[in-house]
Amino acid sequence: MYLSRDEEAIYRGDKGETLRRMMEILVALGDIYGAERLVPVRSVQVAGVSYKNIGDAGLEWISDLEGQVVVPSVLNPAGMDLYCWNDMGISKQFATKQQETIEAYRSLGVTIDCTCTPYQIYSHLAQEGDHLAWSESSAVSYANSVIGARTNREGGPSALAAALIGKTAMYGYHLDINRLPSHVIQVKADLVGSDYGALGFLVGKQVGDGVPLFLLRSTPSRDELKALGAAMAASGSVALYYVDGVTPKPPESGYDHKGCENISIEREEIEAVYAEHKGEDADIVALGCPHCSREELERIADLLAGKKVAKEMWVCTARKIRDACPDLVARIESSGARVFCDTCMVVSPATERFGKMMVNSGKALVYLPGLGGVNAAFGSLDECIDVALGRRRA
Ligand code: F3S
Repeated sequence: MYLSRDEEAIYRGDKGETLRRMMEILVALGDIYGAERLVPVRSVQVAGVSYKNIGDAGLEWISDLEGQVVVPSVLNPAGMDLYCWNDMGISKQFATKQQETIEAYRSLGVTIDCTCTPYQIYSHLAQEGDHLAWSESSAVSYANSVIGARTNREGGPSALAAALIGKTAMYGYHLDINRLPSHVIQVKADLVGSDYGALGFLVGKQVGDGVPLFLLRSTPSRDELKALGAAMAASGSVALYYVDGVTPKPPESGYDHKGCENISIEREEIEAVYAEHKGEDADIVALGCPHCSREELERIADLLAGKKVAKEMWVCTARKIRDACPDLVARIESSGARVFCDTCMVVSPATERFGKMMVNSGKALVYLPGLGGVNAAFGSLDECIDVALGRRRA
């Protein structure tokens, strides 16, 4: 891989041991994936934040680094709400380790926004055509597909390397050649809300790491696109998709539908996702995977208005969203539900004490049993709220 004179100096260690190690990571990845050079990134989203996932080894590795990030950098969700961790049932021991992890990132200059939806709080992090180094799979999918930026799915170390160097190796989704559709998905149903999560759940399994192009009858909102991409990144490893007439278009050169595999999805297949994951015996309902937008909080507050939940119910969002709409949070929490920030139902160890969790997210449906240690049920937002209220069984 070509390195400029400055990059070579960093690689030799002229700018210190931390930067030398970071450059070593970028060069190793570039060599493995055939990158010709490094490319500057506009922003970084760093994974490897929940102490549940990184443990002492990860905390030590981060604490050992010196210096400051040189581009705007934010974090993935942590293992707990950084303020209300006690209300989640998190132990003091875990909380101490999680806070140490957060402080280690803070000392490197990383902004302590722990969210998988940084694009909902900061527009300057990603614009169409920008190169990024983001980590969380749903954020990567949204950045590539809905914003039209360019990022691979970075691991924790490679994202931090990009944050400290300000560059990433130019391969994968940074290149036009890897951004061409591989599958055309004809959806023969009108979709709304969590149907997009169900669609993503189905399509991710079929296309794996492909690049699907959807022909839809309905026009998805940004929140629905967020749900679609999150589910496909979990049931498959889709990092980029297109919705004809809605998202930014594929690169012009070499774009040809004819080489694509065709898949069609019928209404019955969407319905089967709900039918196979009913939530009648769920002991908790959790919403906000990916983290809720303000509009989603509004809808939840409306559905809960004047009612009391009969089961534990969590709503996960970014702290900046919560802080921007205290009225909505108060309306939701007056029902007995809790709005938690900085974390989520998958990366927090707090979920492990539950038997079955009901969600409206295709991504959480995939990850909860393995990563969250809890069985999962899937329903629409209305069904989830009904289960939380004990009103009827979904
Ligand atoms: Fe975000 Fe956690 Fe879901 S990181 S996408 S809320 S699994």
